[in-house]
Amino acid sequence: MIPVMKPWLDKEEAEAAAEAVASGWIAQGPRVREFEEAFAAAIGAPHAVAVSSCTAALHLALIAAGIGQGDEVIVPSLSFIATANAVRYVGAQPVFADVDLATQNLIPETVEPHLTGRTRAVILVDQAGVPADLDAIRALCDPLGVIVIEDAACAAGSTYRARPVGAGAVLAAFSFHPRKLITTGEGGMLTTPDGSIAARLRRLREHGMDISAADRHRSQQPIIERYTEVGFNFRMTDIQAAIGLVQLRKLPEMVARRRVLARRYQELLSDIRGLLMADDPPYGETNYQSFWMLLPEEPAVGRDDILRVFADTGISARRGIMAAHLEPAYADDKSDLPVTERLTERSLILPLFHEMTQAQQEHVASVITTALTPAMSAP
Ligand SMILES: Cc1ncc(COP(=O)(O)O)c(C=O)c1O
Repeated sequence: MIPVMKPWLDKEEAEAAAEAVASGWIAQGPRVREFEEAFAAAIGAPHAVAVSSCTAALHLALIAAGIGQGDEVIVPSLSFIATANAVRYVGAQPVFADVDLATQNLIPETVEPHLTGRTRAVILVDQAGVPADLDAIRALCDPLGVIVIEDAACAAGSTYRARPVGAGAVLAAFSFHPRKLITTGEGGMLTTPDGSIAARLRRLREHGMDISAADRHRSQQPIIERYTEVGFNFRMTDIQAAIGLVQLRKLPEMVARRRVLARRYQELLSDIRGLLMADDPPYGETNYQSFWMLLPEEPAVGRDDILRVFADTGISARRGIMAAHLEPAYADDKSDLPVTERLTERSLILPLFHEMTQAQQEHVASVITTALTPAMSAP
């Protein structure tokens, strides 16, 4: 079976995790701190705060931005459901905006109609690793005092205007789930240029404590901690951070490899008329976290039919990005999002992983070509 994604892990990560275990300190500690510093340097952000997942990162970002009951937050429905759910966690209302067809991301034209006096934030997703046009969204939102939080869950290693994605955001959230490039099993990171926001995020991830357990442990004198506000246990472990440090060093090579593989797909599939594929936007480069393709209208081959052919021929693919407003959890939402609905119903994600071979890619491409050119497949 050709998997849709396979993390690029080897002995080095296993050894790093074993060293953390042998050190006797496996909860959040020095390796988390080191991972934060290395990640901040890689992104070009002054501060990075590690957490247990990107979902937790988005939750804390919204709290740090002061979002709560009665506020509206504009989000793409076309995203993993965590983006919308985080808004609900803080008691605010997610307002779904449509996306651009080529990038699958929010653009000013789709955000603007949803701005109201209650809009307090926009969560801008770099969907599937394709960078969103942050400056364009900020040009719309900054004058209104609407904060833009970047959901860069998929985008570690992508670039926006020649800088790493996340570098230009007030708050950016990353994921280290195994479907992403860098993985720590589960895990997330927040980056911010603001030192006081970073300090609050550090307290919030640890029950609102004014001094971390690791710092208390290191102190020669007894320290009585204070709980400054109601926080959470969103800590990352040192075992995860040890793996993350190794993965982060491999990130440039991961991105370079995925870009070569993506180009090969684009070439192999270039003869299929009307097929739209993941690609770089004019202002940046994607890490191709997911290589998606949108099926042409003609021939009217169904997305699920292709997924079935894939399964029958040993290929593990996925439907395209989900749309939260079509899920039972958001059944009360009556948004009309034509581009989102077309993308979610007619797109799919092809296998793409570091160690994928040319023969595997050619197999995937030939299955697609046969399925989408019925005349050629006829006896
Ligand atoms: C756009 C987006 N946001 C948030 C998340 C949630 O990330 P995590 O699984 O680390 O909580 C994901 C995960 O797939 C995602 O794709």
